[in-house]
Amino acid sequence: MNRNIVPPARVLVTGGAGYLGCVLVPKLLDLGYAVDVLDPLWFGREPLAGFINHERFTLHEGDIRDQDAVNALLASTRPDAVIHLAAISNDPSSEIDHDLTRSVNRVAMEQVMRAAKAHGVARFLYASSASVYGIKQTEDVTEDLSLEPITLYARFKAEGEEVLNSLIDDSFCGVSVRAATVCGVSPRLRLDLTINILTEHAVRRGEIRVFGGAQMRPNIHIEDLTDLYCQLLTAPAETINGEAFNVSNRNASVGALAEMIRGVIDPSVNIRVVPTDDLRSYHLSAEKLTRELGFRPTRPLEQAVRELKAALDDDRFGDISRSVFRNVVHMNAHPEMWRKDQADKA
Ligand SMILES: NC(=O)c1ccc[n+]([C@@H]2O[C@H](COP(=O)([O-])OP(=O)(O)OC[C@H]3O[C@@H](n4cnc5c(N)ncnc54)[C@H](O)[C@@H]3O)[C@@H](O)[C@H]2O)c1
Repeated sequence: MNRNIVPPARVLVTGGAGYLGCVLVPKLLDLGYAVDVLDPLWFGREPLAGFINHERFTLHEGDIRDQDAVNALLASTRPDAVIHLAAISNDPSSEIDHDLTRSVNRVAMEQVMRAAKAHGVARFLYASSASVYGIKQTEDVTEDLSLEPITLYARFKAEGEEVLNSLIDDSFCGVSVRAATVCGVSPRLRLDLTINILTEHAVRRGEIRVFGGAQMRPNIHIEDLTDLYCQLLTAPAETINGEAFNVSNRNASVGALAEMIRGVIDPSVNIRVVPTDDLRSYHLSAEKLTRELGFRPTRPLEQAVRELKAALDDDRFGDISRSVFRNVVHMNAHPEMWRKDQADKA
């Protein structure tokens, strides 16, 4: 029978050294879970400093494309739940090398799901994305609408939901988290996400460049999204099994976000509009999450902007022009990190 995953259960977080993982893992540890992270550390080891020595934490430096390693890890740690975050994690970086994207976001993703089930994992939380809907004119995009992904990244995210739903049963509970674009500070900072980019521009350059501006882009504070992942471990299986949930705070056009950020940072910040052919636009309804799980985001987007400004002002991250803060730049700068022999094993 499906069961809730309560502490001191063991949770494997793939890609747990990333932007979301470095906020999520300490929360899981604080709640009393034992946590394993499988990650090749593409964005470094330093972001794990706050929890790497925790007695219930274990880092497994490795790649989900290495199927033998995944099976050996599942066999030796026997996790109760898997939170699958590992991915080439946005549209532009998924375009760098389609074979790589397929091997990680499609082939290995499916292998991880199947291996988890085969090893008796009771619950699988899958990091899908709001981008699975494609461009919709509908006022509120709800979970029952068709998935019409327009990028390779979004297509594989959608296919992952299909794979997961084909595997669920009474002993394997799977849920897909269709998150809006995330914002805010993480020990592993990303400055390639809408609000984070615009805030960095406002703080460092005194100017926000807005590409287009009319596109609707839903956003969610990183603390809210990671709270949701924690809640999904204990949510009733009958409510979540086989379900997808949109997660979003406010829907706003990119232009309106720029205005909001200027309001928080400094009214003298200049907003410059640049034409774009990036038409991705979606207006997300997160009503189902509130209705069925009572979950409501509690952090306003302004809070993320204030926290980012504080982090940039106190120089916590050192030289923020370094590639590590922008996935596509970092992956282009360091092809050796992802063209490792693991890729051949997929
Ligand atoms: N950040 C967002 O706005 C957002 C929104 C919706 C969905 N998501 C999804 O959430 C997940 C986490 O995103 P993030 O923002 O933390 O991204 P991230 O790029 O910061 O983290 C991804 C992590 O996965 C790891 N990884 C990459 N390839 C791997 C492989 N082959 N094997 C094991 N680990 C691998 C990387 O080293 C990295 O630590 C991703 O699946 C992403 O698509 C993110």
